[in-house]
Amino acid sequence: MNILVTGGAGFIGSNVADAFKKAGHKVVSVDNMFAGNMRNVSKGIKFYKMDIRDKKLADVMKKEKIDVISHHAAQISVPDSVKNPAFDADINVMGVINMLESAVQAAVKKVIFVSSGGTVYGTPAKLPVAETHPYAAESPYGISKVAGELYVKFFAAQHKMKYTIVRYSNVYGPRQVPHGEAGVVAIFIKKMMSGAAPIIFGGGKCVRDYVYVGDVAAANVLALKKGDNNEFNIGTGTPTDVNQLYKAVQKVMKFNTPAVPGPFREGDILANVLDNKKAKKILGWTPKVRLIDGVAETYKYFKSL
Ligand SMILES: NC(=O)c1ccc[n+]([C@@H]2O[C@H](COP(=O)([O-])OP(=O)(O)OC[C@H]3O[C@@H](n4cnc5c(N)ncnc54)[C@H](O)[C@@H]3O)[C@@H](O)[C@H]2O)c1
Repeated sequence: MNILVTGGAGFIGSNVADAFKKAGHKVVSVDNMFAGNMRNVSKGIKFYKMDIRDKKLADVMKKEKIDVISHHAAQISVPDSVKNPAFDADINVMGVINMLESAVQAAVKKVIFVSSGGTVYGTPAKLPVAETHPYAAESPYGISKVAGELYVKFFAAQHKMKYTIVRYSNVYGPRQVPHGEAGVVAIFIKKMMSGAAPIIFGGGKCVRDYVYVGDVAAANVLALKKGDNNEFNIGTGTPTDVNQLYKAVQKVMKFNTPAVPGPFREGDILANVLDNKKAKKILGWTPKVRLIDGVAETYKYFKSL
Protein backbone atom coordinates (compact mmCIF):
# COMPACT_ATOMS: atom_id res chain seq x y z
CA MET A 1 0.00 0.00 0.00
CA ASN A 2 0.99 3.64 -0.41
CA ILE A 3 0.72 5.29 3.00
CA LEU A 4 0.96 8.93 4.05
CA VAL A 5 1.98 9.60 7.65
CA THR A 6 1.28 13.17 8.74
CA GLY A 7 3.49 14.36 11.60
CA GLY A 8 5.98 11.82 10.27
CA ALA A 9 9.02 13.64 11.67
CA GLY A 10 7.58 13.59 15.18
CA PHE A 11 7.89 11.04 17.96
CA ILE A 12 5.03 8.61 17.30
CA GLY A 13 4.51 9.35 13.58
CA SER A 14 8.13 8.52 12.75
CA ASN A 15 7.97 5.22 14.66
CA VAL A 16 4.70 4.38 12.88
CA ALA A 17 6.25 5.29 9.49
CA ASP A 18 9.15 2.91 10.21
CA ALA A 19 6.72 0.10 11.14
CA PHE A 20 4.74 0.59 7.89
CA LYS A 21 7.99 0.50 5.91
CA LYS A 22 9.14 -2.65 7.72
CA ALA A 23 5.80 -4.26 6.85
CA GLY A 24 6.65 -3.68 3.16
CA HIS A 25 4.60 -0.57 2.36
CA LYS A 26 5.62 2.58 0.48
CA VAL A 27 5.69 5.39 3.05
CA VAL A 28 5.49 9.14 2.51
CA SER A 29 5.78 11.58 5.44
CA VAL A 30 4.49 15.12 5.75
CA ASP A 31 5.54 17.43 8.59
CA ASN A 32 5.82 21.22 8.92
CA MET A 33 8.70 20.74 11.43
CA PHE A 34 6.86 22.67 14.15
CA ALA A 35 8.15 20.02 16.55
CA GLY A 36 9.58 17.40 14.21
CA ASN A 37 13.18 16.42 13.64
CA MET A 38 14.71 15.17 10.36
CA ARG A 39 16.79 12.74 12.44
CA ASN A 40 13.51 10.82 13.00
CA VAL A 41 12.83 10.35 9.28
CA SER A 42 14.35 7.06 8.14
CA LYS A 43 16.03 6.43 4.78
CA GLY A 44 13.60 5.22 2.15
CA ILE A 45 10.75 7.37 3.41
CA LYS A 46 9.84 10.22 1.05
CA PHE A 47 9.51 13.44 3.04
CA TYR A 48 7.55 16.61 2.27
CA LYS A 49 7.99 19.67 4.49
CA MET A 50 4.39 20.83 4.42
CA ASP A 51 1.68 22.06 6.74
CA ILE A 52 -1.48 19.93 7.01
CA ARG A 53 -3.46 23.17 6.51
CA ASP A 54 -1.81 23.67 3.08
CA LYS A 55 -4.18 23.20 0.11
CA LYS A 56 -1.27 21.54 -1.77
CA LEU A 57 -1.63 18.52 0.54
CA ALA A 58 -4.11 17.07 -1.98
CA ASP A 59 -1.46 17.30 -4.73
CA VAL A 60 0.98 15.28 -2.61
CA MET A 61 -1.69 12.63 -1.99
CA LYS A 62 -2.55 12.47 -5.72
CA LYS A 63 1.09 12.41 -6.85
CA GLU A 64 2.00 9.66 -4.39
CA LYS A 65 -1.23 7.70 -5.11
CA ILE A 66 -1.94 7.44 -1.38
CA ASP A 67 -4.22 4.57 -0.30
CA VAL A 68 -4.18 5.17 3.47
CA ILE A 69 -3.41 8.18 5.70
CA SER A 70 -2.19 7.76 9.27
CA HIS A 71 -2.89 11.19 10.74
CA HIS A 72 -0.44 12.03 13.52
CA ALA A 73 0.25 15.74 12.91
CA ALA A 74 -1.13 17.81 15.76
CA GLN A 75 -0.60 20.45 18.38
CA ILE A 76 -0.02 18.00 21.26
CA SER A 77 0.32 20.09 24.40
CA VAL A 78 -2.66 20.26 26.80
CA PRO A 79 -1.28 23.34 28.69
CA ASP A 80 -0.56 25.15 25.38
CA SER A 81 -4.10 24.40 24.23
CA VAL A 82 -5.42 26.06 27.39
CA LYS A 83 -3.22 29.13 26.77
CA ASN A 84 -4.05 29.35 23.08
CA PRO A 85 -7.19 27.41 22.13
CA ALA A 86 -7.46 29.09 18.71
CA PHE A 87 -3.99 27.89 17.68
CA ASP A 88 -4.82 24.38 18.90
CA ALA A 89 -8.08 24.34 16.93
CA ASP A 90 -6.39 25.76 13.84
CA ILE A 91 -4.13 22.69 13.62
CA ASN A 92 -6.24 20.02 15.31
CA VAL A 93 -9.59 20.96 13.74
CA MET A 94 -8.93 23.07 10.61
CA GLY A 95 -5.86 20.96 9.79
CA VAL A 96 -7.92 17.78 10.11
CA ILE A 97 -10.62 19.22 7.83
CA ASN A 98 -8.02 20.11 5.19
CA MET A 99 -6.47 16.64 5.49
CA LEU A 100 -9.93 15.08 4.99
CA GLU A 101 -10.88 17.36 2.06
CA SER A 102 -7.53 16.52 0.45
CA ALA A 103 -8.12 12.80 1.06
CA VAL A 104 -11.50 13.01 -0.70
CA GLN A 105 -9.97 14.86 -3.69
CA ALA A 106 -7.21 12.24 -3.95
CA ALA A 107 -9.65 9.30 -3.55
CA VAL A 108 -7.83 8.00 -0.47
CA LYS A 109 -9.42 4.75 0.71
CA LYS A 110 -8.88 4.94 4.46
CA VAL A 111 -7.89 7.37 7.23
CA ILE A 112 -6.37 6.17 10.50
CA PHE A 113 -7.05 9.06 12.87
CA VAL A 114 -4.96 9.45 16.00
CA SER A 115 -6.90 10.57 19.03
CA SER A 116 -6.23 10.70 22.74
CA GLY A 117 -7.70 8.25 25.25
CA GLY A 118 -6.16 10.38 27.96
CA THR A 119 -8.32 13.42 27.18
CA VAL A 120 -11.46 12.66 25.13
CA TYR A 121 -13.15 10.93 28.11
CA GLY A 122 -12.29 13.72 30.55
CA THR A 123 -12.27 12.39 34.11
CA PRO A 124 -13.55 8.85 33.45
CA ALA A 125 -16.60 7.71 35.43
CA LYS A 126 -15.04 4.25 35.75
CA LEU A 127 -11.59 2.71 35.18
CA PRO A 128 -10.40 1.19 32.96
CA VAL A 129 -12.37 3.41 30.59
CA ALA A 130 -13.95 1.74 27.55
CA GLU A 131 -14.73 3.24 24.14
CA THR A 132 -18.42 3.42 25.12
CA HIS A 133 -17.66 6.15 27.70
CA PRO A 134 -19.21 9.44 26.50
CA TYR A 135 -17.00 12.23 25.24
CA ALA A 136 -16.28 14.54 28.19
CA ALA A 137 -13.12 16.42 27.19
CA GLU A 138 -11.97 18.99 29.76
CA SER A 139 -9.32 20.88 27.74
CA PRO A 140 -9.20 22.59 24.34
CA TYR A 141 -6.81 19.81 23.18
CA GLY A 142 -9.32 17.12 24.23
CA ILE A 143 -12.15 19.08 22.62
CA SER A 144 -10.21 19.41 19.34
CA LYS A 145 -9.49 15.65 19.32
CA VAL A 146 -13.22 14.96 19.82
CA ALA A 147 -14.02 17.35 16.96
CA GLY A 148 -11.38 15.63 14.80
CA GLU A 149 -12.97 12.23 15.47
CA LEU A 150 -16.43 13.54 14.56
CA TYR A 151 -15.17 15.18 11.35
CA VAL A 152 -13.47 11.92 10.36
CA LYS A 153 -16.74 10.03 10.87
CA PHE A 154 -18.69 12.70 8.94
CA PHE A 155 -16.33 12.70 5.93
CA ALA A 156 -16.15 8.91 5.90
CA ALA A 157 -19.95 8.62 5.84
CA GLN A 158 -20.31 11.32 3.14
CA HIS A 159 -17.62 9.99 0.82
CA LYS A 160 -17.57 6.23 1.44
CA MET A 161 -14.06 6.49 2.83
CA LYS A 162 -13.08 4.07 5.57
CA TYR A 163 -11.64 5.14 8.90
CA THR A 164 -10.18 3.74 12.11
CA ILE A 165 -9.81 5.94 15.18
CA VAL A 166 -6.97 4.99 17.53
CA ARG A 167 -7.13 6.59 20.98
CA TYR A 168 -3.69 6.32 22.51
CA SER A 169 -3.00 6.35 26.22
CA ASN A 170 0.34 7.83 27.37
CA VAL A 171 2.89 6.90 24.74
CA TYR A 172 6.57 6.68 25.64
CA GLY A 173 9.69 5.35 23.92
CA PRO A 174 12.59 6.32 21.66
CA ARG A 175 12.29 9.79 20.03
CA GLN A 176 9.79 10.97 22.62
CA VAL A 177 9.66 14.62 23.59
CA PRO A 178 9.14 16.05 27.09
CA HIS A 179 5.87 17.89 26.30
CA GLY A 180 3.83 14.86 25.10
CA GLU A 181 1.23 13.08 27.21
CA ALA A 182 3.86 10.67 28.60
CA GLY A 183 6.50 13.42 28.73
CA VAL A 184 7.28 12.48 32.31
CA VAL A 185 9.36 9.50 31.11
CA ALA A 186 11.63 11.79 29.06
CA ILE A 187 11.71 14.41 31.82
CA PHE A 188 12.81 11.83 34.41
CA ILE A 189 15.46 10.23 32.19
CA LYS A 190 16.97 13.57 31.08
CA LYS A 191 17.08 14.96 34.61
CA MET A 192 18.58 11.77 36.01
CA MET A 193 21.18 11.64 33.21
CA SER A 194 22.31 15.06 34.45
CA GLY A 195 22.80 13.47 37.89
CA ALA A 196 19.88 15.28 39.57
CA ALA A 197 16.73 13.78 41.09
CA PRO A 198 13.46 14.84 39.39
CA ILE A 199 10.50 16.47 41.15
CA ILE A 200 7.43 14.29 41.77
CA PHE A 201 4.28 16.39 42.14
CA GLY A 202 1.37 15.73 44.49
CA GLY A 203 2.85 12.63 46.15
CA GLY A 204 3.24 10.80 42.82
CA LYS A 205 -0.29 9.44 42.97
CA CYS A 206 -1.35 10.39 39.41
CA VAL A 207 -2.12 7.13 37.65
CA ARG A 208 -1.53 6.70 33.94
CA ASP A 209 -1.46 3.97 31.31
CA TYR A 210 2.02 3.97 29.74
CA VAL A 211 2.09 2.27 26.35
CA TYR A 212 5.30 1.65 24.41
CA VAL A 213 5.59 3.38 21.02
CA GLY A 214 6.51 0.11 19.26
CA ASP A 215 3.21 -1.37 20.41
CA VAL A 216 1.36 1.74 19.20
CA ALA A 217 3.07 1.40 15.81
CA ALA A 218 1.95 -2.25 15.62
CA ALA A 219 -1.66 -1.13 16.20
CA ASN A 220 -1.38 1.20 13.19
CA VAL A 221 -0.10 -1.65 11.00
CA LEU A 222 -3.05 -3.83 12.07
CA ALA A 223 -5.47 -0.94 11.40
CA LEU A 224 -4.45 -0.95 7.71
CA LYS A 225 -6.57 -4.04 7.20
CA LYS A 226 -8.82 -4.30 10.24
CA GLY A 227 -11.08 -2.22 12.45
CA ASP A 228 -12.86 -0.35 9.65
CA ASN A 229 -15.26 2.38 10.78
CA ASN A 230 -14.57 1.78 14.43
CA GLU A 231 -12.66 3.34 17.32
CA PHE A 232 -10.16 1.67 19.64
CA ASN A 233 -8.37 2.41 22.86
CA ILE A 234 -4.67 1.70 22.43
CA GLY A 235 -3.31 1.31 25.94
CA THR A 236 -2.08 -1.39 28.27
CA GLY A 237 -4.99 -1.41 30.74
CA THR A 238 -2.35 -1.41 33.49
CA PRO A 239 -2.41 1.42 36.03
CA THR A 240 1.02 2.89 36.89
CA ASP A 241 1.43 5.76 39.30
CA VAL A 242 4.29 8.24 39.07
CA ASN A 243 6.10 6.63 42.03
CA GLN A 244 6.02 3.22 40.30
CA LEU A 245 7.22 4.80 37.08
CA TYR A 246 10.08 6.51 38.94
CA LYS A 247 11.07 3.17 40.49
CA ALA A 248 11.22 1.59 37.01
CA VAL A 249 13.42 4.41 35.68
CA GLN A 250 15.63 4.20 38.79
CA LYS A 251 16.08 0.46 38.26
CA VAL A 252 16.99 0.85 34.59
CA MET A 253 19.40 3.74 35.25
CA LYS A 254 20.75 2.33 38.54
CA PHE A 255 19.93 5.68 40.16
CA ASN A 256 19.35 5.53 43.91
CA THR A 257 18.56 9.15 44.90
CA PRO A 258 14.92 9.66 45.98
CA ALA A 259 12.80 12.10 43.97
CA VAL A 260 12.17 15.65 45.22
CA PRO A 261 8.55 16.08 46.46
CA GLY A 262 6.58 18.86 44.74
CA PRO A 263 3.08 20.38 45.18
CA PHE A 264 -0.14 19.02 43.67
CA ARG A 265 -0.64 20.41 40.15
CA GLU A 266 -4.03 21.92 39.45
CA GLY A 267 -5.72 20.47 36.37
CA ASP A 268 -4.04 17.04 36.34
CA ILE A 269 -6.60 14.26 35.84
CA LEU A 270 -5.91 11.95 38.79
CA ALA A 271 -6.21 8.66 37.01
CA ASN A 272 -6.62 7.35 33.51
CA VAL A 273 -6.34 3.75 32.34
CA LEU A 274 -7.73 2.47 29.05
CA ASP A 275 -9.73 -0.72 28.59
CA ASN A 276 -8.10 -2.41 25.57
CA LYS A 277 -10.43 -5.42 25.18
CA LYS A 278 -11.99 -4.10 21.97
CA ALA A 279 -8.60 -3.63 20.27
CA LYS A 280 -7.62 -7.15 21.35
CA LYS A 281 -10.83 -8.64 19.95
CA ILE A 282 -11.21 -6.75 16.66
CA LEU A 283 -7.69 -5.60 15.72
CA GLY A 284 -5.97 -8.63 17.27
CA TRP A 285 -3.69 -6.16 19.08
CA THR A 286 -2.02 -6.73 22.42
CA PRO A 287 0.68 -4.59 24.00
CA LYS A 288 3.83 -6.69 24.19
CA VAL A 289 6.52 -4.49 25.76
CA ARG A 290 6.72 -4.41 29.57
CA LEU A 291 7.26 -0.98 31.17
CA ILE A 292 10.73 -1.88 32.45
CA ASP A 293 11.87 -3.01 28.97
CA GLY A 294 10.33 0.00 27.26
CA VAL A 295 12.00 2.36 29.73
CA ALA A 296 15.32 0.59 29.05
CA GLU A 297 14.88 1.15 25.29
CA THR A 298 14.02 4.81 25.91
CA TYR A 299 17.10 5.28 28.11
CA LYS A 300 19.25 3.63 25.41
CA TYR A 301 17.86 6.15 22.91
CA PHE A 302 18.60 9.20 25.09
CA LYS A 303 22.15 7.92 25.70
CA SER A 304 22.68 7.57 21.92
CA LEU A 305 21.92 11.27 21.24
N1 LIG B 1 2.52 11.37 23.05
C1 LIG B 1 1.43 10.85 23.57
O1 LIG B 1 1.45 10.27 24.66
C2 LIG B 1 0.11 10.90 22.81
C3 LIG B 1 -1.05 10.38 23.41
C4 LIG B 1 -2.26 10.43 22.71
C5 LIG B 1 -2.30 10.94 21.43
N2 LIG B 1 -1.17 11.46 20.87
C6 LIG B 1 -1.26 12.00 19.51
O2 LIG B 1 -0.27 11.37 18.72
C7 LIG B 1 0.11 12.24 17.65
C8 LIG B 1 1.63 12.37 17.60
O3 LIG B 1 2.07 12.96 18.81
P1 LIG B 1 3.59 12.93 19.29
O4 LIG B 1 3.59 12.65 20.75
O5 LIG B 1 4.37 12.07 18.37
O6 LIG B 1 3.98 14.46 19.13
P2 LIG B 1 5.08 15.19 18.21
O7 LIG B 1 4.99 16.65 18.50
O8 LIG B 1 6.40 14.52 18.35
O9 LIG B 1 4.52 14.89 16.75
C9 LIG B 1 3.61 15.72 16.09
C10 LIG B 1 4.23 16.11 14.76
O10 LIG B 1 3.28 16.88 14.03
C11 LIG B 1 3.98 17.95 13.41
N3 LIG B 1 3.03 19.04 13.17
C12 LIG B 1 2.48 19.87 14.09
N4 LIG B 1 1.69 20.75 13.49
C13 LIG B 1 1.72 20.47 12.16
C14 LIG B 1 1.11 21.04 11.02
N5 LIG B 1 0.29 22.10 11.13
N6 LIG B 1 1.39 20.52 9.79
C15 LIG B 1 2.23 19.47 9.67
N7 LIG B 1 2.85 18.89 10.72
C16 LIG B 1 2.58 19.38 11.95
C17 LIG B 1 5.07 18.34 14.38
O11 LIG B 1 6.12 19.04 13.76
C18 LIG B 1 5.48 16.99 14.94
O12 LIG B 1 6.56 16.43 14.20
C19 LIG B 1 -0.63 13.54 17.90
O13 LIG B 1 -1.81 13.55 17.11
C20 LIG B 1 -0.99 13.48 19.37
O14 LIG B 1 -2.11 14.25 19.67
C21 LIG B 1 0.03 11.45 21.53
